[in-house]
Amino acid sequence: MSIVPITLSLLLFIFNSHKLFSAATRISCRPNQRDALLEFKNEFQIGKPSPFCITAHPKTLSWVNNSDCCYWDGIKCDANSGEVIELNLSCSSVRGRFHSDSKLLKVQSLRILDLSRNNFSGQIPFSIQKLYHLTSLNVSRNSFSRCIPSSIGDIPNLNFLDLSRNKFVCKIPSSLGSLLHLTSLDLSNNSFFGEIPFSFGNLSNLISLNLFDNNFEGKLPSSLGNLSYLKFLDLSVNNIVGEIPSSLGNLSQLAFFYLHFNNFAGKIPSSLGNISHLTSLTLSFNYFVGEIPSSLENLSYLKNLILSHNSFVGEIPPSFGSLSHLAFLDVESNKLSGGFPLALLNLTKLSILFLSNNQFSGMLPSLNGTLEFCTISPSSKLQELYIDNNSFIGPIPISIFQSQQPKVPPSW
Ligand SMILES: *[C@@H]1O[C@H](CO)[C@@H](O)[C@H](O)[C@H]1NC(C)=O
Ligand SMILES: *[C@@H]1O[C@H](CO)[C@@H](O)[C@H](O)[C@H]1NC(C)=O
Ligand SMILES: *[C@@H]1O[C@H](CO)[C@@H](O)[C@H](O)[C@H]1NC(C)=O
Ligand SMILES: *[C@@H]1O[C@H](CO)[C@@H](O)[C@H](O)[C@H]1NC(C)=O
Ligand SMILES: *[C@@H]1O[C@H](CO)[C@@H](O)[C@H](O)[C@H]1NC(C)=O
Ligand SMILES: *[C@@H]1O[C@H](CO)[C@@H](O)[C@H](O)[C@H]1NC(C)=O
Ligand SMILES: *[C@@H]1O[C@H](CO)[C@@H](O)[C@H](O)[C@H]1NC(C)=O
Ligand SMILES: *[C@@H]1O[C@H](CO)[C@@H](O)[C@H](O)[C@H]1NC(C)=O
Ligand SMILES: *[C@@H]1O[C@H](CO)[C@@H](O)[C@H](O)[C@H]1NC(C)=O
Ligand SMILES: *[C@@H]1O[C@H](CO)[C@@H](O)[C@H](O)[C@H]1NC(C)=O
Ligand SMILES: *[C@@H]1O[C@H](CO)[C@@H](O)[C@H](O)[C@H]1NC(C)=O
Ligand SMILES: *[C@@H]1O[C@H](CO)[C@@H](O)[C@H](O)[C@H]1NC(C)=O
Repeated sequence: MSIVPITLSLLLFIFNSHKLFSAATRISCRPNQRDALLEFKNEFQIGKPSPFCITAHPKTLSWVNNSDCCYWDGIKCDANSGEVIELNLSCSSVRGRFHSDSKLLKVQSLRILDLSRNNFSGQIPFSIQKLYHLTSLNVSRNSFSRCIPSSIGDIPNLNFLDLSRNKFVCKIPSSLGSLLHLTSLDLSNNSFFGEIPFSFGNLSNLISLNLFDNNFEGKLPSSLGNLSYLKFLDLSVNNIVGEIPSSLGNLSQLAFFYLHFNNFAGKIPSSLGNISHLTSLTLSFNYFVGEIPSSLENLSYLKNLILSHNSFVGEIPPSFGSLSHLAFLDVESNKLSGGFPLALLNLTKLSILFLSNNQFSGMLPSLNGTLEFCTISPSSKLQELYIDNNSFIGPIPISIFQSQQPKVPPSW
């Protein structure tokens, strides 16, 4: 029976010493920043959770006066100065118009601002440049509209800028090209139009550039070839015209290069064969002409190559038999000719091959004597083969009937 009080007092001792310890290291919020944040909170309402949130929690509910703002949900303060350096309201069900004189702009020590997955509307204020220390700005998945202010180019240390999935409708201010420290720029899924600024060639630290699903038009600036650290470039689903600038062959780190659903034309520059780290290349649904350049044989890490719905002529280069990582090849709906590309059966990873809607001719390989795919190439892992609408002749081999129906293409 006497054990209980001893244990209790021991626990109390531990609890008290912990409190002492944290009191000594506790930082406290600056009153002017606390007031600015409270006023910012009152500029908005709590609405429905964003459909992009699995779980949403209105973080601003914990923002009450007379408590230390450094301990509010979504806030982080600098351990020495007590200044607010991070505000993360992602999935906080906030809704309402952002005002040009929002009190948030008074919290000038902010480095990280994440407002993603709410329902902020209105414009990003011109005076956003007052947040001079920002390194990361994320307003993805909101209802921001109109334009992005050119003043954003004056935030010198911005590393991450994510404006994706809003309702922006405007030309990109060329001042974005002054964000020399930017490593990730995501403008996808908006209605930006006009040309991609030439000044983007200044963004020499960029690793990821996503312009997917906008209305960009005009030609691709050759300056993009200067982005030598770029690993991810998505230009798909826009209205870009003209040729691919051959300077893009200088993007030696590029692994993912998506150009599908645009109005590109002309021949593929052979310099693309120099993008040695490329794993996915999609050129489908454009107006490309000419032959598939044999230089692509040098893309030894290529996994997904999608060239469908263009006007390519000639053969699939036999040297593609050396693309040992190729898993998905789609050349559907072009004007390709020649015999069945036997070299591809050498590829141990190729599982899906679309040849439909071209001018291929001759016998299918398995009709050569008693051979079937598996005997021509014991290593072939081909699971799906599409050859309809060509000029192949002769009976269709049993192995093709056994192949499966179209599935959802793999992620690329
Ligand atoms: C918070 O409380 C302090 C002191 O009680 C007061 O001076 C300040 O105006 C309050 N701030 C807001 C935004 O209500
Ligand atoms: C903000 O918080 C969410 C979780 O609520 C987290 O997933 C996200 O990474 C945070 N953002 C930043 C910039 O740390
Ligand atoms: C976002 O707010 C607008 C009004 O500002 C409203 O029309 C819209 O339905 C809201 N969207 C969501 C997903 O709640
Ligand atoms: C911005 O937020 C979205 C949604 O929360 C997230 O998926 C994305 O990774 C974030 N972007 C950056 C650059 O941190
Ligand atoms: C783009 O965003 C809209 C809503 O803003 C959404 O309905 C649509 O599915 C998105 N498109 C893609 C391809 O992600
Ligand atoms: C960015 O590039 C443009 C033209 O491409 C150039 O005129 C400008 O001086 C550059 N800006 C910076 C900050 O480097
Ligand atoms: C980038 O590349 C283009 C042509 O490829 C060149 O004319 C330009 O001076 C380079 N520099 C910048 C900062 O765009
Ligand atoms: C980039 O590509 C262009 C055209 O292919 C070439 O003339 C130029 O020398 C290359 N620049 C660098 C820095 O590799
Ligand atoms: C590929 O790169 C090499 C070496 O950088 C260069 O000499 C060659 O001209 C490039 N090929 C093309 C087609 O741009
Ligand atoms: C492939 O790369 C090698 C070595 O860089 C080069 O000699 C060859 O010309 C390239 N092939 C094509 C078709 O460009
Ligand atoms: C098939 O693969 C072998 C071994 O990897 C190689 O020697 C041969 O040249 C390849 N054949 C074709 C047609 O690419
Ligand atoms: C017929 O089979 C032989 C090997 O048995 C092969 O060399 C030849 O290319 C095949 N011809 C056709 C048209 O498939």
